[in-house]
Amino acid sequence: MKAVSISVALAATGLAFAAPEAQAAGSLNLICSADVVICEQMTADFEKESGIKVNMVRLSSGETYAKVRAEARNPKTDIWWAGTGDPHLQAASDGLTLEYKSAMLDQLQDWAKKQAEGSGYRTVGVYAGALGWGYNTEIFQKKGFKEPKCWADLLDASLKGEIQMANPNSSGTAYTALASLVQIMGEDQAFDYLKKLNANVAQYTKSGSAPVKSAARGEAGLGIVFMHDAVAQTAEGFPIKAIAPCEGTGYEIGSMSIIRGAKNLDNAKAWYDWALKAEVQSRMKDAKSFQLPSNKSAEVPKEAPKFEDIKLIDYDFATYGASEKRKALLERWDREVGASAN
Ligand code: F6P
Repeated sequence: MKAVSISVALAATGLAFAAPEAQAAGSLNLICSADVVICEQMTADFEKESGIKVNMVRLSSGETYAKVRAEARNPKTDIWWAGTGDPHLQAASDGLTLEYKSAMLDQLQDWAKKQAEGSGYRTVGVYAGALGWGYNTEIFQKKGFKEPKCWADLLDASLKGEIQMANPNSSGTAYTALASLVQIMGEDQAFDYLKKLNANVAQYTKSGSAPVKSAARGEAGLGIVFMHDAVAQTAEGFPIKAIAPCEGTGYEIGSMSIIRGAKNLDNAKAWYDWALKAEVQSRMKDAKSFQLPSNKSAEVPKEAPKFEDIKLIDYDFATYGASEKRKALLERWDREVGASAN
């Protein structure tokens, strides 16, 4: 028998190319929109527990939405884990993500289930966190600035060049800030506020947590970020204090979606079910990810800013995660704020 016919014969018996376990488990193409440290921890843990090889890329929430949209005809991604809920909802309403009803849904907090129901099960909540800022207490003390407790305080002329926030086109954090201000103040007043704030903003970063990392290193006085990202810097030993704005603030439902046309669909579902487990979410704090977990039995990190201590608005996810609204607000931000950015 020639070599070629041996493999044909084996194929017929189903024994051909019997692969080692890891290979049989295949691979998964993941975009991770949380902090890179938790992205790497989740990837390593999942690979170890499932034998599935994960190709992980870290991208901000808005960047991921744009990539998934651009690749809609030939998706290169199987699953999108984490990142703010609005772009996940937008992807769902654009039909870019796949309906999936995980058996894990029953174990989740109501806000996480609502996110799934509201999207026709095209996305689901994995964690939640409130928006605020973190400021460098040493810089503020040295320069004689008073503690900024309210959104209004960030307009103080003394803070010129001291503030960083992200660009809401790339960052879900900054889009949450934009949409929250619109809901707190009304759209015209919010843009008026953002134009005034622009005078104090030194830089609009790509990623949402970068501003408070700069503040931690003393490169900025204050970063407008999710409070859990500020607390993470405090936990690293930096002189950062997290603030919940006195007028009220918005929050995120960090989400997860399977991409429509995923080439490794079974593996995407395996990640999805795994990432909703209590024991997996309880480990997030090891990477200093201090969001509120969506599984009801997961351990809430003691560092996590608690919703009951924060004046939260009733963030309207259906409206601000809708394609038209997000697009219109981002275009207006580009025109009225981004175009005159320093
Ligand atoms: O750093 C973690 C985190 O704040 C998540 O809670 C959030 O979903 C994500 O980052 C948002 O990142 P970005 O603003 O870069 O899209």
